[in-house]
Amino acid sequence: MKNPEDKFKKVISHAKEYGYVFQSSEIYDGLSAVYDYAQNGVELKKNIREYWWKAMVQMHENIVGLDAAIFMHPTTWKASGHVDAFNDPLIDNKDSKKRYRADVLIEDYAEKLNLKAQKEIKKAAKRFGDAFNEQEFVSTNPRVVKYLSQRDTILKRMGKSLENEDLADVKNLIEELEIACPVSGSKNWTDVKQFNLMFGTKIGASADSAMDLYLRPETAQGIFVNFANVQKTGRMKIPFGIAQTGKAFRNEIVARQFIFRMREFEQMEMQFFVRPGEELKWYEHWKEERFKWHLSLGLGKENYRFHDHDKLAHYANAAADIEFNFPFGFKELEGIHSRTDFDLKAHEAHSGKKLQFFDHELNKSYVPYVIETSIGLDRMFLAVFSTALQNEVLEDGSERIVLKLPSVLAPTKAAILPLIKKDGLPEIARKIMNDLKFDFNVSYDEKDAIGRRYRRQDAVGTPFCITVDHDTKNDDTVTIRYRDTMQQERVKISDLKSIISKEVSIGNWLQKM
Ligand code: GAP
Repeated sequence: MKNPEDKFKKVISHAKEYGYVFQSSEIYDGLSAVYDYAQNGVELKKNIREYWWKAMVQMHENIVGLDAAIFMHPTTWKASGHVDAFNDPLIDNKDSKKRYRADVLIEDYAEKLNLKAQKEIKKAAKRFGDAFNEQEFVSTNPRVVKYLSQRDTILKRMGKSLENEDLADVKNLIEELEIACPVSGSKNWTDVKQFNLMFGTKIGASADSAMDLYLRPETAQGIFVNFANVQKTGRMKIPFGIAQTGKAFRNEIVARQFIFRMREFEQMEMQFFVRPGEELKWYEHWKEERFKWHLSLGLGKENYRFHDHDKLAHYANAAADIEFNFPFGFKELEGIHSRTDFDLKAHEAHSGKKLQFFDHELNKSYVPYVIETSIGLDRMFLAVFSTALQNEVLEDGSERIVLKLPSVLAPTKAAILPLIKKDGLPEIARKIMNDLKFDFNVSYDEKDAIGRRYRRQDAVGTPFCITVDHDTKNDDTVTIRYRDTMQQERVKISDLKSIISKEVSIGNWLQKM
């Protein structure tokens, strides 16, 4: 699957075929950018959520959890700035009638320049071998210097125009760069307009008493409005964090990338409250910690990179994305933001309630500063799933499709397979399953030849197959087959629990951090 588009199509179709992700309301032709997680998807998603939760809450004595409601008082969104500023700049192509995010069109153009530079660097590295000095090459090769400086100039100008709300200049930039509509190929663009991404709804029984509400566009505000409650009832001392996972809703303009950009999605966020003036130290700390969490899953260091923001959100004094190499290129997976005291101060101003901390060491009260780590659960799902999906050519020339999910995240940890459907083997296999199911998600499969069953489990991502054969009846041993290496071992039934446990224990995986 060399072509990224083919790879992405394969990811989407595999997710459907093996019960991971379905289009929402598919029988009614689906709902755009909304997806349902199926029998295996829901388990993978739950395991990712748990892996995050344990790393953030269980592993930190100064971080506690929260589950705030999706509905919040509408003033929340006035205070947070979302009513006035949670907009995306949109632009329509007059010929194709397709709508785009103007900033994404420009970013894609800049990324193409970056890719050209990277291609030159790769070529040179190959040509010069061990003698290659990348740093020197990047700063002296005229083509690379040109591509990268064009990229930076474009992104800087866009950042400035967006910050100054100069939408006319954003359009000028699109025209100057001669960016064409990917559908019609035309450069016939409308003006750039702002579009608010929040979904509105109503609460209340009768039309006159109903109150206008928004579906929350981020989970973070549920944490801010509960800051004082949690701090007091938990007797929390600065620095401390509040973590939450939950649904968020955004009326995205461009939503064509499967579960990468959805209108209903799930976030895993943590707000870390610190002393004013110490925020940038904690910002660096959390950048590092979050990166370590990602690396612990073994998806490959080369698949991650940091992207420091040129254009800062209205609440931030520093921000970076952890980008991941999705099938369609490097894109944002997680954001780490130094949000200053913007949110707590705004909620103080709008609610009239004090949201401060009395610091005994400093003998004074202050509104804490906040470092936020915010990752999309669905994007993490896509990162894990798309990296895991591999098409392998085996030694005998045959191919297998295998979903090499980190075993800690795999929906089903082991499949128990009687070699044949008679001679008492199914009964032994079911007994093994019934013993293991207290500790792990396991499944039973007796249909088809054993080779086909192994392939089925490879494709669905089950890390262990346990085969019961005639020898089992004599010596209480089974064959355990490892999904990734396809190696097989003879082990005692009584050892199965500890073998699987060692491989899938969250504790063992988190220790890799
Ligand atoms: N509280 C900060 C915040 O919401 P954000 O960068 O807008 O920041 C954080 O979102 C993360 O949420 C992103 O890095 C991404 O992983 C995820 N996310 C945002 N919009 C999304 C969407 N439409 N679909 C899926 N995930 C999304």
